[in-house]
Amino acid sequence: MKKELPESVSILKSLYQASEVINSIRDYGELLEKIMDIAINTVDAERGFLMISDEKSQEMKVEVARNLRKENIINSKEISMTSVYNALQSGEAIRTSDAMSDPRFTENQSVALYNLRSIIVVPLKRIDRTIGVIYLDSQTTKKVFDEEALEFMNAFANLAVLSIENAKLTNSLAIENKSLKNEISSMFHFEDIIGASKQMRQVTELLEKISNTDVPVLLHGESGTGKGLIARAIHHNSSRKDKKFITQYCGALPETLLESELFGYKKGSFTGAMSDKVGLFEAADGGTFFLDEVGDLSLTIQTKLLRVLQEHKIRRIGDTEDRDVDVRIISATNRVLEDEVKKGTFREDLYYRLKVIKIDIPPLRSRKDDIPILVKYLLNKLNTKSKGVDGISSEAMSVLMQYDWPGNIRELENMMQHAIVMAQGELIAIDDLPPEISHKNIIRREVFSKKLKDVEREHIINVLKENEYSRKKTSDVLGISLRTLQYKLKEYDIVKHEQ
Ligand SMILES: Nc1ncnc2c1ncn2[C@@H]1O[C@H](COP(=O)(O)OP(=O)(O)OP(=O)(O)O)[C@@H](O)[C@H]1O
Ligand SMILES: [Mg+2]
Repeated sequence: MKKELPESVSILKSLYQASEVINSIRDYGELLEKIMDIAINTVDAERGFLMISDEKSQEMKVEVARNLRKENIINSKEISMTSVYNALQSGEAIRTSDAMSDPRFTENQSVALYNLRSIIVVPLKRIDRTIGVIYLDSQTTKKVFDEEALEFMNAFANLAVLSIENAKLTNSLAIENKSLKNEISSMFHFEDIIGASKQMRQVTELLEKISNTDVPVLLHGESGTGKGLIARAIHHNSSRKDKKFITQYCGALPETLLESELFGYKKGSFTGAMSDKVGLFEAADGGTFFLDEVGDLSLTIQTKLLRVLQEHKIRRIGDTEDRDVDVRIISATNRVLEDEVKKGTFREDLYYRLKVIKIDIPPLRSRKDDIPILVKYLLNKLNTKSKGVDGISSEAMSVLMQYDWPGNIRELENMMQHAIVMAQGELIAIDDLPPEISHKNIIRREVFSKKLKDVEREHIINVLKENEYSRKKTSDVLGISLRTLQYKLKEYDIVKHEQ
């Protein structure tokens, strides 16, 4: 017992040192190099390599090697690959201090050919599977791998697995972070306005033409069709892109509040105006101003807005002085502004000023060929990889193609979020769709598969019941003559059974 003590103490010491080193490394590649070095140095091996299984293909790949060429290892006769495969398969470490006389290795060509003496192969095990292996060998008798070396390697392998998994995670988070950053910086290019349909191509072509100008743009489209997205894209593709992009939602705000937001005020111009306030138009100077739901503006504010467009001037509330503002105006509405003009609730001159360029964004139901490409884009955008969802079944896709999408792309986006959460496999299935979308389809399918005769028969029975089996009333409701009804009752054999 006493003899063992110094041994285990030295193992512990080596382990402690090893853990200090590998715990301080965050970079995946550097970590693997260090693990290799520690293993080689502690065991005093001559050669070695470290293999890690590829996350996707599950194939083992040599990541680091010492005194061996990485590329040649797998097919090399210089090393005992048999022992590597054995260790991987059994999940048990293998050690020999004299390979040539060890019965487990006598069949092994490389052992004989290259005089391999000591070999240690340790699997890198996680709870559920083996993620890699460390191989060490030596040809000389100078240093043979003893039991102590194996003990160290077994414990060290456990430590190594933990740090490898950690580094992988950090690595993948770093990659994800980078791709998110790229996504954000490219977020407002026209490439992010997805659409393969003719209608959407026309929209993006128009956007290309107008973004580098200063002309006002009016976006017209239903809720969720991408008005906000397009407004931002116009700004970010214009020469104003390094200046501000300010959005003001014009609906559902008291007039005075909206007015002071937009134009600012002078101190003391009303109770509560404790100091001068810069309005949003001034704040956006040099940039782009997006007036969302412009159809909701009051006539007073409309008049002031007209001045911004015509003279590029604003006056703060309570002020006597005009100020110059240089803003490009983009506005959006889901109303038909011509109707508002006719009703007198929207100034005609303002309307013409706003719609120098008018872009009608078509609802999704009128460009259903955009659905597949949007679904693909959204799968990507919603980062489904972490959940392992990478597509949609053709049945589910056909349900999406049949649905009307009253909430347009926003609804599609929300639906996809729902479906990704629900999905169990790689593909989104019909059952993963929200009931209001998949259900409609089932009802439709049922209805669509019925024969016209059956529907007619069912309807007649229902109307009969509703009218307490009065044939006269029933024929009136159905809009047919009593004779026709009697004929149909007979034809459908309703007379006896149902009355
Ligand atoms: N063509 C498109 N390609 C990709 N994503 C889109 C597209 N159109 C809209 N979206 C996305 O759909 C969502 C809704 O779009 P957005 O908010 O721009 O619509 P909106 O027309 O401003 O709606 P609302 O009138 O309700 O404000 C956003 O997440 C947007 O990124
Ligand atoms: Mg919007």
